[in-house]
Amino acid sequence: MCGIVATVGHKNAPEFILEGLESLEYRGYDSAGLAILNSDSEIEVVKVVGHVANLKDKTNNQNLTGRIGLGHTRWATHGQVLTKNAHPHQDQNGDFFIVHNGIIENFQSLKDFLMNKGHRFSSDTDSEVIAHLLAYNYKKLKSVKSALIASLQSLRGAYALAVISKREPNKLWGAKLSGPLILGLAKDNSYYLASDSLALASVAQKIIPLEDFELVEITPKGQTIINLKTDQIVSRPTELMKLTKEDSQLGDFEDYMIKEIHHIPQAIGDAIRGRLNIDQNFITLGGLNSVVDQLQYIDRIIIVACGTSYFAGMVGEYLIEDIANMPVEVHLASEFRYRKQPLSRSSMVIFISQSGETADSIGALEVIAGSGMLKLGIVNVVGSTISRLTDAGIYCRAGLEKSVASTKAFMSQVTILTLIALYLSDNYKDYRLLSQQLVNLPSQLSQFLNQHQIKKIANKYYQASNFMFLGRNYNYPVALEGALKLKEISYIHAEALASGELKHGSLALIDKKMPSLVIALSGKTLDKNVSSIAEIKARKGKVIAIVDDAKSPIIDQVDDVIVIPKVIEPLQPLVSAIACHLFAYYMAKALDRPIDRPRNLAKSVTVE
Ligand code: AGP
Repeated sequence: MCGIVATVGHKNAPEFILEGLESLEYRGYDSAGLAILNSDSEIEVVKVVGHVANLKDKTNNQNLTGRIGLGHTRWATHGQVLTKNAHPHQDQNGDFFIVHNGIIENFQSLKDFLMNKGHRFSSDTDSEVIAHLLAYNYKKLKSVKSALIASLQSLRGAYALAVISKREPNKLWGAKLSGPLILGLAKDNSYYLASDSLALASVAQKIIPLEDFELVEITPKGQTIINLKTDQIVSRPTELMKLTKEDSQLGDFEDYMIKEIHHIPQAIGDAIRGRLNIDQNFITLGGLNSVVDQLQYIDRIIIVACGTSYFAGMVGEYLIEDIANMPVEVHLASEFRYRKQPLSRSSMVIFISQSGETADSIGALEVIAGSGMLKLGIVNVVGSTISRLTDAGIYCRAGLEKSVASTKAFMSQVTILTLIALYLSDNYKDYRLLSQQLVNLPSQLSQFLNQHQIKKIANKYYQASNFMFLGRNYNYPVALEGALKLKEISYIHAEALASGELKHGSLALIDKKMPSLVIALSGKTLDKNVSSIAEIKARKGKVIAIVDDAKSPIIDQVDDVIVIPKVIEPLQPLVSAIACHLFAYYMAKALDRPIDRPRNLAKSVTVE
């Protein structure tokens, strides 16, 4: 997944583009570039390998000026991380310049066709084909917009695109098919395109998220959106820009991940605000009002997601089965979309996604689009593709999450799944206890975040080459989430098991070089976790235990202990997960890893 920014009319296009790309680096950061239309109607291009900071350094030495331009920060799909593969890409005559987010699946056949027509390519990417296709079609059609429409009709795959051209120098075009692209409008009559409204927070007052099959033509005098299917001009109301520049800044934090972990108490509070009413014993989920009638007939729930959102879904499985007594199954989106699974209209499918743009989850959604099944979204990014493709849904309200490692969004997802479980339950016996503890949780977690035990423990274990995470029942998905977090930001290999599985094979891995983190909280599985810990200790394995009782007998049996606040079992993931997130964070810090931009990863995987 990549980040795109572009402008017509900003008084200093290079400055806006560099700042915009920096705010989008969470979308990909292996190379970057920009193209600026200068006062001589020439288009100057600068491209680098590495972060946007390298692009800033390189452009500092050039006197780039102009009010029209586009920029790109890349997460490589086709073509190695090389300067020649960085965007913007251009045709061989330098008439058309494009930046692209997505994948062109038929690029090879198009490239072969164009090479037979004499086109010479300079990169290994799929995206470069678009610039050459534009040049080829312009030769016949003599209009950039017509050439762009003809070119888009030849593409198969996904794209969010920005285009400038020397042929019609005072214009900017944007086009979208299953990849986010936001049109920004400013009071000073400057116009913008960006992959995420975050990049527009400091320049635009209003935004219009483009829809699939839409093309926008922008000139200094205004913008026109065309629906490519109907060839009709689209008039859609603008939305107010809700993000501020501060949303996208670190403040006093060292990195976004720790900032977002410290935002978890507020995120949980925001997720329940106006939705949980203890006194009247009821849950208000306004996002489901339009489907209340259909919900009456639901007798089975399928949850579909990827990565951390999938683990939130696994917590949801325990919650909804336990509280609402309804059967639930959880599927990885990348698997669900290729399964031949008998589905009935009395099933409901819940798609969980922080970004709302994950290609695998969108693909799974599209597989059941015509099934008549009720599709709900639990999404954080307002107006994102999944939020628009589902029948109804509940926004996480976690606020902007920039760090590639998802933390506060995971907590919001689990909180909302708790509310859904209560919403679907008829007479959950512990409703009042659970609700009261959920309301108190933000302040409890705020206090817990002042602890220092986890950083000390991480400083003892950060040189481990492998780690085992163990949990049972509600905390098994948390063990999986803890292992993923450790892997993705520290690069230490980690795996997670339901504690009861240890003796069925993986115990062979345990020795003094394989430490384990065991989530051993109060409840029906505590004794079993004590046995798992004993199995590990008997093989000289080191154990870090997460406990919720400072007097737990476990403390004497293990090497290190993390004590967390004690809550009712259904709420334990919201507490044990924050401990796992902090553990992974401090392990990665001790290894001096690039916390917010781990190698090889991107914040939202908008390609399959
Ligand atoms: C989480 O830390 C990872 N960055 C990744 O697993 C992420 O959860 C996954 O790609 C799903 O993203 P989504 O929630 O935006 O759909």
